[in-house]
Amino acid sequence: MSQPSRFYVTTPIYYVNDQPHIGHTYTTVLADVLTRFHKLAGEATFFLTGTDEHGQKVQQAADKSGVSPQAHADKYAERFKDAWKQMNIGYDKFIRTTDPAHIAFVQGIFTKLWDKGLIYEEEYEGWYSTSEERFFAEDELVDGKDPISGRPVEKIREKNYFFKMSSFQAWLIGHIEANPDFILPDFRRNEVLGFLRQPLKDLCISRPKSRLSWGVTLPFAPDFVAYVWVDALFNYQSAVDGKTFPGGEAVWPADYHILGKDILTTHAVYWPTLLKAIDAPLPKHLLAHGWWLMGNARMSKTTGNVVDPWGMKEKYGVDALRYFLIREMVVGQDASFTETALIGRINSDLANDVGNGLSRILKLAATGLESRLQPVAAEGDEEKALVQGATDAVTSVLDKVKSLKLSFAIEDVLQLIRSVNRYLEVKAPWKLAKEGDAGKAKLNAVLYHAAEALRIGFSLLHPVMPAKMEEALTALGTAPSHTGLRWGAWDYSLPLGQGVNLFPRIQVEASDAPPVAKKSAAAPAGDPFSLVHLKVAVINEVADHPNADALYVLKIGLGTEARTICAGLKKHLTPAELLGRKVVVVYNLKAANLRGVESQGMLLAAGPEGGKLSPVDPGEAVPGDDIKLPDSPFAPKPDLTLKEFDKAPLTVVNSQVAYKGKPLLSLQGPVLATAPDGTPVH
Ligand code: MSP
Repeated sequence: MSQPSRFYVTTPIYYVNDQPHIGHTYTTVLADVLTRFHKLAGEATFFLTGTDEHGQKVQQAADKSGVSPQAHADKYAERFKDAWKQMNIGYDKFIRTTDPAHIAFVQGIFTKLWDKGLIYEEEYEGWYSTSEERFFAEDELVDGKDPISGRPVEKIREKNYFFKMSSFQAWLIGHIEANPDFILPDFRRNEVLGFLRQPLKDLCISRPKSRLSWGVTLPFAPDFVAYVWVDALFNYQSAVDGKTFPGGEAVWPADYHILGKDILTTHAVYWPTLLKAIDAPLPKHLLAHGWWLMGNARMSKTTGNVVDPWGMKEKYGVDALRYFLIREMVVGQDASFTETALIGRINSDLANDVGNGLSRILKLAATGLESRLQPVAAEGDEEKALVQGATDAVTSVLDKVKSLKLSFAIEDVLQLIRSVNRYLEVKAPWKLAKEGDAGKAKLNAVLYHAAEALRIGFSLLHPVMPAKMEEALTALGTAPSHTGLRWGAWDYSLPLGQGVNLFPRIQVEASDAPPVAKKSAAAPAGDPFSLVHLKVAVINEVADHPNADALYVLKIGLGTEARTICAGLKKHLTPAELLGRKVVVVYNLKAANLRGVESQGMLLAAGPEGGKLSPVDPGEAVPGDDIKLPDSPFAPKPDLTLKEFDKAPLTVVNSQVAYKGKPLLSLQGPVLATAPDGTPVH
């Protein structure tokens, strides 16, 4: 991946017909966290967000509330701005598509396209969907209805203007193929390439004012407004028109457009072809993230299962919510939002690990030392290990952020913080504190090392939880905020704080436990299955094992990482049958050397002992997705042994893989196996 020393990131601009919800919040927090990390790494950054204010949906929403579209947009744009203030989002610019500068910019683009002969007019008849604001061809309809929203469509015949998008199809395919990191993650790029195997149609880029007047007037056809997506996409460019980074480099093109998977086609097909048509530089990366699901179901206003981020924020605090969103979702995949999971993260990661180390240090320093620490050199092995651990964490975290593995980056910081907690247990500084003057120098050394490692850990968590980490860093005496990621970068010349409890543990009373916590667990705590971590993978390469006749060596992709595993499937399947197939692997199995090849995990297949084996099928789940037993404890053990795995036998029940009769699930549904009930899965 390219490593730009500049970082221009955008969120989609949000329609002003909805309240800011968890989906908007996630995208915006993700962009904010990435921006803050890139700043921490010393890069010049620019972060754009805003609102999409034209088009039929907005006009209809305004009509419904009996106000002008502009008044409606003004009100909602304020709501989004207020929401981002509450979420501590540090954007550089908030663009509104009704800004006069944006409108003028879009009109300039239309003039350019018109002058280049890339727009033509045509009488068009088609099925128009008001909810999607677009035409569908007869064969695209499902049961005569809009294939996306399922709403009725109406036949409309009208003159419109078209952009010659089809003439850029070959170029676009070439661009996507030549730039494998243009569309991320990988499987989304493949989806777009799949879509581009069909002939690309020209794009209708106008709407007659007789039908819709709330939009940007086309400079060459005053009775028409621009199709809202074309207007909207150009926000990314108009917002930074003429803007440069401090070094003088133009802010455009964007380094990252962050978007939900539902709006990938507009960004991966319409947008690059429009830019190419006006000879503008293309964005470097499109990052399509997954959906937040409520439990295992898609959030939907009609069923009422929508997470209200503001309620969660009020209850648990903005930083805990930001932490949960970033820690829980592997970028690219769907994730499940439950209040139980949020409380779990707060108690285990934040209260136990992050908050605990700090409060211990402060308490000990208050009893045994003057109010400030003296920097000292690392002498013992444990101290040296801590210095190394902190230094390594900085490198690995920044690397993972560059490759967008944010949830894994956070896990690395947590490891560092846990190592500080272990260090404090080993060194037992509370004993030194009782020794009075004699123990003071030793106590200072222990606390200094613990504090310095924590300072680096907190600095690395600052992008995710800016307010809490500022509080934590101030308590360590490093105000106003982090002072560098190098060991020893801070001299502790300010006094330590007192009595800080960063993340109080959330007590869940049986009576007010969130609904999910009340459900009976399918497997109790301590059950062998809780130690097992199963993940979806895709087989990218199949080769014969050099030294074992029964084995294949498979290269598998797990969404954000690649691994090699050996599988005894040679007498069961051909390489062609395996290649490209989605499978389920035991992700946390201890790596084993199998006749000279390291196997990092194990593939799950169903079949009788000694009989024909067939890999189980994760259905709609995508590589990297977890497979779990819903509502059961999940505490995967690193380096699980085969013996430990065998203690949790899996079998086929109703063509699904089950543990103790309960089907294993990804967020997309069960894991399938075509074998009779009771067939073992191993
Ligand atoms: N206005 C267009 C974007 C134009 S960008 C040039 C739009 N707006 S939106 O308000 O409907 O959606 C904005 C984003 O919210 C999309 O990226 C969408 O994927 C995201 N989300 C909406 N619900 C979501 C979840 N439940 N989970 C995660 N993100 C989802 O589309």
